[in-house]
Amino acid sequence: MKAIVFTEYGSPDVLKLKEISKPNLKENEILVRVRATSVNYGDLIARKFGHLTFTEFNMPAFLYLVSRLAFGWNKPKINVLGSELAGDVEAVGRLVTKFKPGDAVFAYLGMNMGANAEYVCLPENGSVAIKPANMSYDEAAALPYGAIMAVSLLQKGKLKSGQKILINGASGGIGAMAVQIAKTIGAEVTGVCSAPRLEYVKSLGADKVIDYSHEDFTKNGKTYDLILDVLGRSSFARCKNSLNPDGIYLLASFKSRALFDMVWTALFSRKKVICTMADEKVDSLLLVKELAEAGKVKVLIDKRFPLEQAAEAHRCIEKRQNQGNVIITNG
Ligand SMILES: NC(=O)c1ccc[n+]([C@@H]2O[C@H](COP(=O)([O-])OP(=O)(O)OC[C@H]3O[C@@H](n4cnc5c(N)ncnc54)[C@H](OP(=O)(O)O)[C@@H]3O)[C@@H](O)[C@H]2O)c1
Repeated sequence: MKAIVFTEYGSPDVLKLKEISKPNLKENEILVRVRATSVNYGDLIARKFGHLTFTEFNMPAFLYLVSRLAFGWNKPKINVLGSELAGDVEAVGRLVTKFKPGDAVFAYLGMNMGANAEYVCLPENGSVAIKPANMSYDEAAALPYGAIMAVSLLQKGKLKSGQKILINGASGGIGAMAVQIAKTIGAEVTGVCSAPRLEYVKSLGADKVIDYSHEDFTKNGKTYDLILDVLGRSSFARCKNSLNPDGIYLLASFKSRALFDMVWTALFSRKKVICTMADEKVDSLLLVKELAEAGKVKVLIDKRFPLEQAAEAHRCIEKRQNQGNVIITNG
């Protein structure tokens, strides 16, 4: 089968189209013919992990070491990128009961990756579900990563109807989905991103948008019940006056200092810091499928590239030429 393979860390040039063997189906797995996949933050990081310094990694030092060992210190252990997909089930293992050949599915592969290929095998009990009926493969391929992360993060932030949330990093993979899910919960949403992406975030339903290069949201006098910082570019010290008395400062990316703030606020403050990893639950996919089918969650695709041009898709994101999702299509 065709796949985009990389055997060394580096620029998008390391991504090469190759013929590799089709994966062998295990008895608890489904074999999916990949129709579309996306390029997201995880793909870019995994491609250049060996050249990434600790400061460029948005997590504490111990996680940098663990991740670097897991990905491969000098050379990547995983050779095919792509953490989310939409496609058709082509075959199922002997013990599979939830899916059958012909089912259209969408899935999150997480750190195992592998969707930049014609076929992938995944366990039926993994993060895989029937594709939203009203979405194309291209659209559904851009849902799983954001859906899994955003649903879990907003649950951990205990967001409720009528509350005010600020999402710092609202135009990215996680933020774009968090904006939409927060709206379905009934929250008032302020999205923070760069100027070229303000319209994109508004079109996702944000009530207010802030351009981070022109306005510091921590200094405008507005307060929120929940501040979700996706990249961890702010700090609790700067944000605490922007939180309501029982407000939560929720970090999807954090360094050791934020972990200290989490412990300190747990003991001594009504305002809390939460540093957390999202739970990868299929329930999040099922919820977002339901919301998509009800027209409450959408995917805006900016650019499509055929599998052969996966490197171009990576370049497009790195040059910040996109204002929505970048999809790799595959027949
Ligand atoms: N906790 C977890 O379980 C978990 C799981 C997965 C990923 N993560 C973390 O999530 C992050 C990736 O999130 P993502 O996939 O959404 O990334 P992404 O698609 O690259 O989006 C990044 C977002 O941050 C915004 N941004 C960039 N610079 C900013 C600044 N100085 N101030 C405010 N916003 C800024 C970007 O806005 P513009 O593009 O408009 O500039 C964009 O909205 C990584 O740090 C990763 O480690 C955490």
